[in-house]
Amino acid sequence: MILVTGGAGFIGSHLCLEMLNEGHDVIVVDHLFSTKKESLNRVEEITGKTLTFYRFNLLDRSKLEQVFKNHSIEAVVHLAGFKAVSESVSLPLSYYNNNLNATLVLLEVMSHFNVKNFIFSSSATVYGKPTSNPITEDFPTSAINPYGRTKLMIEEILHDVWTSDLTWNISILRYFNPIGAHPSGKIGESPNGIPNNLMPFITDVAMGQYKELVVFGDNYPTIDGTGVRDYIHVVDLARGHLKALEKITVEKGYNIYNLGTGEGYSVLQLVQAFEESTGIPIPYKIMARRPGDIAECYSDPTKAENQLGWRAEKTIYDMCKDSWRWRQDNPEGYTSF
Ligand code: WQD
Repeated sequence: MILVTGGAGFIGSHLCLEMLNEGHDVIVVDHLFSTKKESLNRVEEITGKTLTFYRFNLLDRSKLEQVFKNHSIEAVVHLAGFKAVSESVSLPLSYYNNNLNATLVLLEVMSHFNVKNFIFSSSATVYGKPTSNPITEDFPTSAINPYGRTKLMIEEILHDVWTSDLTWNISILRYFNPIGAHPSGKIGESPNGIPNNLMPFITDVAMGQYKELVVFGDNYPTIDGTGVRDYIHVVDLARGHLKALEKITVEKGYNIYNLGTGEGYSVLQLVQAFEESTGIPIPYKIMARRPGDIAECYSDPTKAENQLGWRAEKTIYDMCKDSWRWRQDNPEGYTSF
């Protein structure tokens, strides 16, 4: 059985879907802080398979120990964590408590039950302001906000854990910019109030929720002056985890992989791709840069391709079409009942 923490979230629900389709037995622990159980109901509906769900916070050690007592867990995929950069700046302590302490409890319980295959959801944000692109895994790391610091600290904690006990197999997956949704239109990124990220904002404008997109700066040293990112379809990202799981007892030890497409798209290029994919115009206005933003960030995904046998397959148009289908079919995200 595979334990997926945070499995009810945007990435997690897409991962659980791919895992069930691949025949894995899946257990999810999620405290539903930023999503609804409905996401997992739909995963079961789409796959026709069932998973085991527990609702609690990983900080609750006794409940977590009970899960390890009740199930024979082969590996853990750890996605649970707060992930809003701007929120982390105003609430650092809740980020350190929720992201760091929960991970420490999880690792201690895993160690106690001798479960030592661990896949960690990290982020390209650990590269800070890269000096060049594309980015490879050996690039220097630095954190520029508390959210990024929790990811970097956990990567270093995991390295210390592995150094102390080489029987651990740890794969760190550095996500670039996940967007899109499952083609069924039944699962996707559930809006939590005003979106932080670009694609949810584009789909909100397409829905008529906002009259225009605010573009944060067009004076960056990039192809058209707007920020360039490596957008990756969330289904490709999920499949990257399956490959990491498959290879974790082959590529043993402590390994880090970029999960990106290797292609960068500017804000205006993504807007154009969305308009071409959906036929919906996205009015925008250029405003000042957003504090903390970097100009350009895109991956070199060669290591994941060579060692995991994984490469992103979906195009930027798939990402736009699938994001839009999810948003159109679920104007209020997951309706809870
Ligand atoms: C993308 C580009 C903005 C909104 C963040 C986190 C990262 C990861 C993904 C968790 C930038 C521009 C955005 C808008 C805009 N999250 N933009 N108008 O900042 O690259 O990464 O989300 O792991 O850790 O840092 O993503 O989607 O916020 O921004 O012009 O309304 O779109 O300036 O150039 P980002 P984003």
